[in-house]
Amino acid sequence: MNDITALVGATQDTLARIARDFSPAVFASSLAAEDMVITDLILKAGLPIGIFSLETGRLHPETLAVLDDVKATYGYEIALFRPQAEAVDAYVAANGLNAFYDSVEMRRECCRIRKVEPLGRALAGNKAWVTGQRRAQSTTRAELAVQEDDPAHGMIKFNPLADWSEEDVWNYIRANGVPYNALHDQGYPSIGCAPCTRSVQPGEDIRAGRWWWENPDSKECGLHMVDGKLIRIKSVAA
Ligand code: ADX
Ligand code: SF4
Repeated sequence: MNDITALVGATQDTLARIARDFSPAVFASSLAAEDMVITDLILKAGLPIGIFSLETGRLHPETLAVLDDVKATYGYEIALFRPQAEAVDAYVAANGLNAFYDSVEMRRECCRIRKVEPLGRALAGNKAWVTGQRRAQSTTRAELAVQEDDPAHGMIKFNPLADWSEEDVWNYIRANGVPYNALHDQGYPSIGCAPCTRSVQPGEDIRAGRWWWENPDSKECGLHMVDGKLIRIKSVAA
């Protein structure tokens, strides 16, 4: 376990630096536990980093309920970005509502329409964006840096919780009374869209319930990819 006080202090410093040197900056929240830690740190410090969520149209009601919890706790309304209705309609008409189970390509196309394209709109005009990714989350994130170049969006990308463990996240949430998605107490350590997320057994990998029918190496939705590939470009600290 990390020294939580030092970890929180370093993360507060990172967020303050983003607000100072990379404005305008935005934070992409999936409304899961990691993102609630960052939400709490941003809003309690009053940092000018806007928070948005990609409302894919396939989220669990428990996830959507977190939007109300954030409003009730912090008086803050998270901005929502939704997919283009025509693109969703065309995909569903051609392939069916749940075609993402059929192949990695079909799954990535659904993620492209429901998450990646709206993400582009949410990020437009900013100098930096912030995510809740952690190194320990998966094999695809083992090389994650706190600050990276993001050529896909032409800006800097920050992962302030890169060094945090899952235990650190929950220690912070409990110690600070941070609201969180009720599904986390029902065996869901990692939460995405409802049809693509299931609960895991104790001891199972934390992302085992995400796109569980796919190989662990393909389990990225495209939000964190460049030209269809995962590449990490450590950015020189400013
Ligand atoms: S995913 O790529 O597998 O879906 P994961 O759920 O681990 O990602 O989330 C990693 C980070 O991606 C989150 O901390 C958040 O910054 C961003 N993210 C994922 N889903 C969303 C979403 N629906 N809205 C906004 N940001 C999201
Ligand atoms: Fe579509 Fe599933 Fe990706 Fe959500 S996670 S956008 S439902 S494929």
